[in-house]
Amino acid sequence: MYSNDFIIKIDSLNKSFGKIKALDNLNLEIKRGELLGIIGSNGAGKTTAIRITSCILQPDSGDVLVDDMNTRSDQVKIKSMIGYLPEEPNLYERFKARDLLRYFAELYGVPKNRIDDRIDELLKLVNMSHRADDRINTFSKGLRQRIGIARALIHDPKILIFDEPTMGLDPATAHNIREFIRSLKGEKTIILCTHYMDEADSLCDRVAILNQGRIIDMGTPEYLKSKIHGDIILELRVEDPKNYNIDLIKDFDSVEDVNIKGNLFIISLKSKCDIKSIINVFRNDIISVNTKEPTLEDVFIHTVK
Ligand SMILES: Nc1ncnc2c1ncn2[C@@H]1O[C@H](COP(=O)(O)OP(=O)(O)O)[C@@H](O)[C@H]1O
Ligand SMILES: [Mg+2]
Repeated sequence: MYSNDFIIKIDSLNKSFGKIKALDNLNLEIKRGELLGIIGSNGAGKTTAIRITSCILQPDSGDVLVDDMNTRSDQVKIKSMIGYLPEEPNLYERFKARDLLRYFAELYGVPKNRIDDRIDELLKLVNMSHRADDRINTFSKGLRQRIGIARALIHDPKILIFDEPTMGLDPATAHNIREFIRSLKGEKTIILCTHYMDEADSLCDRVAILNQGRIIDMGTPEYLKSKIHGDIILELRVEDPKNYNIDLIKDFDSVEDVNIKGNLFIISLKSKCDIKSIINVFRNDIISVNTKEPTLEDVFIHTVK
């Protein structure tokens, strides 16, 4: 692969806030046209990494190259290439939706004769044409998010960076936003930060798992799931997990790994052969039993623990 195939190159990035090391020698390369997911727990460093990439924050050391330009020296050019949806878009409350978009269109240098059409186009795209002349402070969280997305797209950037775009939204609105992001696939390079594993799994070409400011694993969702040893996950919900010795379960030949989440035992198995015997161990205490294929959430729990 030519180096030019990577539109964003994050190289040995460090950033601390006082004693907190938010990014710890972070390296990450994003291919042109791909949808890259960054998953990680709260505080993993996702927002810090993308704020630096979007030229909003300066790193302590290391570099981010966007189309071979450095965020330290080419901020104006890089900002014109990136549409950024922050975790909580800061929208001017008293503006009407249309006026807010006009303000940002002018700020980003959209040609004057194109502005009105562009705004109409985007309002339609995010399904907000009917609220174009209402003020932002009358909008619910989901409606604000849609206007935030329209704002991110106003200058038709090559790169879109979405920080937790569906967080706190009702399921229907979250679904619409996911489908909208899917519709941009291929056309734009997209970074999607999320802690919804199913969102990352269904949308992303590749997923990077960030933990304590470092990438601890990365690949296609299929690749990451295949790395979970065993092809079956047995989930046993019990009355009281403290009644059981985890090593007793690990002793079964087919058991690859055991995790406990609340009162749920999550057991990775190489094969189905021991399922009956394992269930027998828990017999009198079982609330529910479930078997499934590994999900990205299993990968995450397995990798980050
Ligand atoms: N402006 C800031 N001031 C102080 N600490 C910060 C600031 N921004 C982020 N942090 C800290 O840096 C770490 C990484 O935060 P962040 O990048 O927001 O993580 P994430 O987006 O993955 O939840 C956290 O411990 C957070 O508290
Ligand atoms: Mg964040």
